Amino acid sequence: MIKGHVVVTRKIPEPGMEPLRAAGVSLSVLEEKEDRGPSHQDLLSVIPECDVLLPLLTEPVDRTLLERGDRLLGVAQMAVGFDNVDVDAATELGIPVGNTPGVLTETTADLAWALLMAAARRIPEAHNYQVAGRYKLWGPNLFTGMDVGPGASGRRKVLGIVGYGRIGQAMAQRSHGFDMEVLAHDPYNREGIDADARATWADLPELLERSDFVTLHTLLTDETRHLIGEAELRRMKSTAILINTARGPVVDEEALVQALREEWIAGAGLDVYEDEPAMKPGLAELPNAVLLPHVASASRDTRGRMAEMAAANTLAFLQGRRGPTTVNPQVYETAAYRARTERVRGG
Ligand code: GLV
Repeated sequence: MIKGHVVVTRKIPEPGMEPLRAAGVSLSVLEEKEDRGPSHQDLLSVIPECDVLLPLLTEPVDRTLLERGDRLLGVAQMAVGFDNVDVDAATELGIPVGNTPGVLTETTADLAWALLMAAARRIPEAHNYQVAGRYKLWGPNLFTGMDVGPGASGRRKVLGIVGYGRIGQAMAQRSHGFDMEVLAHDPYNREGIDADARATWADLPELLERSDFVTLHTLLTDETRHLIGEAELRRMKSTAILINTARGPVVDEEALVQALREEWIAGAGLDVYEDEPAMKPGLAELPNAVLLPHVASASRDTRGRMAEMAAANTLAFLQGRRGPTTVNPQVYETAAYRARTERVRGG
């Protein structure tokens, strides 16, 4: 039996709930409905009694909330991204923050690739045409799109990967089957790119100018907010396609709407939005935008593993132990962490 009260903000897959129940922790799920989340006020009112918070990326875990969590031994987010959590404040307060890296790499790259294919070959447009009964006669000009492989022109297409971490590298791997040339940009992984035979380093402007497909795989930070804005979109080829499965605010979405409308670029495939779940005006009406509701890691297996990892972090935090995947491991060396976990570490 492990003591402590865990607040799960919204319903998570069973593989995450099961180990928490089996450990005998006191457990509350704030919102059972799939299409609703707890308000910030709801969170503020439960946080004083909470030993570990298990949030999703939809809940802002800000300084105000963390400061009210006097008992808080950790935040065990079920997502790889953690831009909704004020990690600096958590570290200062001695609170470890867990995430779920690795298990969603392949699933996310699969979806990014699906978006790339769907935008290149105009699959949603063609699907809508077909189901609307508008297909009357085969036509040589019907939904002509863009080759991803060399195709009849024989020209190898250039894939530009921005952010060469796990998911970016999984995109490079997928591009092999399409005989593409890969350019990669990541100021934090220049060495990794130079050492990787699958990709060639490029500065961002060069990558944007040369790529047929630009795919984004960065974290959202102050540095990457609006990394792709008007100037960057204008640099891209008019035949190019932009894919974003990272975080919405990495792209200036208003500029993107203009770019798609005025055909500065040919298309986009988006899984994430600047003001998620809302879209900027005009985006939904554009035929050259393929739009998904943030489902990149949504395979049953992967979501189950993510939930399991969040549970593993939760159980470790409850016992004053290091979480298996902590985004701020430096916290474990702080006096604030030691003070906070004293009551559980003592036995
Ligand atoms: C999904 O977007 C995640 O960060 O896990």
